[in-house]
Amino acid sequence: MADALEASIAQRISEAQRPVVFSGAGLSAESGVPTFRGGSEHALWSQYDPHQLASVEGFEHQPDVVLAWYEWRRGILADAQPNAAHHALARFKDALLVTQNVDDLLEQAGASADRVLHLHGSIVHDRCHGGCGWSERVDLNEPTASRDCPSCGEPVRPAVVWFGEPLPEVVWEQALAACSEADLLLVIGTSGVVQPAAMLVELASQAGAFVVNLNPEPTQLDSIADVSVHRPAAEVLPELISD
Ligand code: OAD
Repeated sequence: MADALEASIAQRISEAQRPVVFSGAGLSAESGVPTFRGGSEHALWSQYDPHQLASVEGFEHQPDVVLAWYEWRRGILADAQPNAAHHALARFKDALLVTQNVDDLLEQAGASADRVLHLHGSIVHDRCHGGCGWSERVDLNEPTASRDCPSCGEPVRPAVVWFGEPLPEVVWEQALAACSEADLLLVIGTSGVVQPAAMLVELASQAGAFVVNLNPEPTQLDSIADVSVHRPAAEVLPELISD
């Protein structure tokens, strides 16, 4: 344990009655999955315009470009393993794991699917763009080629939430309810700039949760958090979450 502050956070975590974890791309950074923003030259949005690649307009105008980009990201994920932070959260059995991440590294680490809420969908699934409800798990090593929905004939797309699209309703309602009742919110590896997801932090804080923010870099969430620890998640989380 690095210091007395972290020891007191570990105690808060072990005593929490209704803990919620809210994670972002930084949780998977140490698994080799690029973040979207931040100082690294690997940060995805420093290389690409998000509205060209992660939007309905992008997909409808240049489906092959968008699908090639997802194929590349799926290839990175095919080789990625859960890191020590995912494993620590999988052990944190009392906590609901609300994540903006579209990977399934928490589930691969052993977190049961019913306590992982994917606010931004899943890159390891395709779904019907027409909204008929068809969806299937993909092989991350297979090409992400253009194809039509076998159920209704509309185009098939990655099952992620794009800019301008609403969050999955049931998942969002569950996250809102959990954050408004949480006594502890552990925020991990998010810049906190993408709404509405980021408002969960403010909501939990206003409802009385003790908010811990883990991020190696300063972010705007530091001003909402009760305490911030500026260290990488895979280094600090195993120290904070006991077996
Ligand atoms: P960002 O890329 O905006 O932020 C990632 C954060 O992780 C940054 O603040 C980094 O400092 C931090 N970070 C980097 N390495 C870390 C480490 N080892 N441990 C802990 N933190 C680390 O990612 P998100 O906040 O998740 O949306 O972005 C939110 C949404 O923006 C994403 O879900 C995505 C994107 O547009 C969609 O795809 C809809």
